[in-house]
Amino acid sequence: MSSPSRASFGSKFGIIMAAAGSAVGLGNIWRFPIETGQNGGAAFILIYIIAIALLGVPLMVAEFFIGRHAHTNAAHAYKKLSSHPFWSNIGFIGVLGGSLILCYYVVVAGWVLKYMFLSLDGTLSTLFTPGDASGYESLFGNFVSSTWSPLIFMVLFVLMCHFAIAAGVRKGIEKLSKIFMPALFVILVVLVGFSLFAPGAQEGLSFLFHPDFSKLTTSSVLSAIAQAFYSLSLCMGCLCTYASYFGKDVNIIKSAVSISVIDTLVAIMAGLIIFPAVFSAGISPQSGPSLAFIALPGAFQQAFGAVPAVAYIVSVLFYALLVLAALTSAISLYEVPTAYIHETWHIRRRYAALVVTAVCLMLGTVCSLSMGVLGDMHIFGKSVFDFLDYFCTTIMMPLSGVFIAIFLGWVVKRDIFMDDVTNGCTLRTTPAAVVHWLLRWVAPVLLFAAFLGVLGVI
Ligand code: TRP
Repeated sequence: MSSPSRASFGSKFGIIMAAAGSAVGLGNIWRFPIETGQNGGAAFILIYIIAIALLGVPLMVAEFFIGRHAHTNAAHAYKKLSSHPFWSNIGFIGVLGGSLILCYYVVVAGWVLKYMFLSLDGTLSTLFTPGDASGYESLFGNFVSSTWSPLIFMVLFVLMCHFAIAAGVRKGIEKLSKIFMPALFVILVVLVGFSLFAPGAQEGLSFLFHPDFSKLTTSSVLSAIAQAFYSLSLCMGCLCTYASYFGKDVNIIKSAVSISVIDTLVAIMAGLIIFPAVFSAGISPQSGPSLAFIALPGAFQQAFGAVPAVAYIVSVLFYALLVLAALTSAISLYEVPTAYIHETWHIRRRYAALVVTAVCLMLGTVCSLSMGVLGDMHIFGKSVFDFLDYFCTTIMMPLSGVFIAIFLGWVVKRDIFMDDVTNGCTLRTTPAAVVHWLLRWVAPVLLFAAFLGVLGVI
């Protein structure tokens, strides 16, 4: 269902900020440095950038096209372009995947919120012992495995998302993104400035910028593709849903390129903040998922130990940055099922958001408890949290990517795509033709190969 009075974004700046807000999230500031650290630094970044150019931008254009063309939620959008029983339903993968990602994303976002308070009240600085991270290790271990504290912060975070979504597309999503994204950028620049002056920053920089191709393996190439998809919020309905609120005059390709550039810049800037601090504190760049919660609090104290006030400010700003980034991304995930429920059940947006909140709180609670009291509950040998992450990012995302690429490259008529993406032939046709070619020939092959690689077939 789409009605003439359907919501829309108010300005092009709002569109870029909202979509960039979806893309820039924990994936950039938390996941990207971890992946870079574990896959050999600069060589990984190079592959990542190639993946963004060959797969990321074309798929983002595809989602924008589908959403804007159909003018409805992600599940129903595909029905407007095909009546085939299979192709018209591939949008459901996005609605399901987006909703599942939301349920564990809010758990990590809750941790980030808690750490912002822990840095504000000085706990993170008082725990510091040079050369010994055990204080942070037990703080994090005890916190995530406890029952109530992570739940309380998760609920707080979910409520923030709920009210943003209930406020509407323009007054909620767009307004918040227009404030949060510039604020996030300012914090990033300040933190990069501080980090470049940390003693030993040089080593961190050379790790980030000198490629060592001997560290590249098939699995690091797969990780780069997965990271590119995750970071750009691809194939899980977010961009398609946002594009359904775009006006007909938006230049889809230009927007997709701008958003991808912003997202990549933010990821690299996050690397510029984290690696100098990590190297200066003598921590291994391969620390893994605990990097942001165990290694970094100490790294900040160590790197800026000479001026404790700077260490305090850097720590508070860093977690505030993570909270802002997580909020705008979680909101975009929230919007996918909210728009779907709102338009399918014909109920008010506010009530649709309530349904999403209720489900998210229930599943989120299980994910959060899977680090503690529900630790013995396993699905295919993984905790609920790990299973959801694995299932969504390694199976559903590439699968949905292959389908979307084939759908646009082979099922939808090329003329419809070309006409729509060039805004009725008022824009240059070459970029649209290149994107179509990539979607038709390059993306399906690369993605299918990546999918087989993940399953261990090749
Ligand atoms: N891109 C966001 C990040 O970097 C997370 C995110 C939001 C996401 N929407 C998504 C990931 C859709 C995959 C699919 O943190």
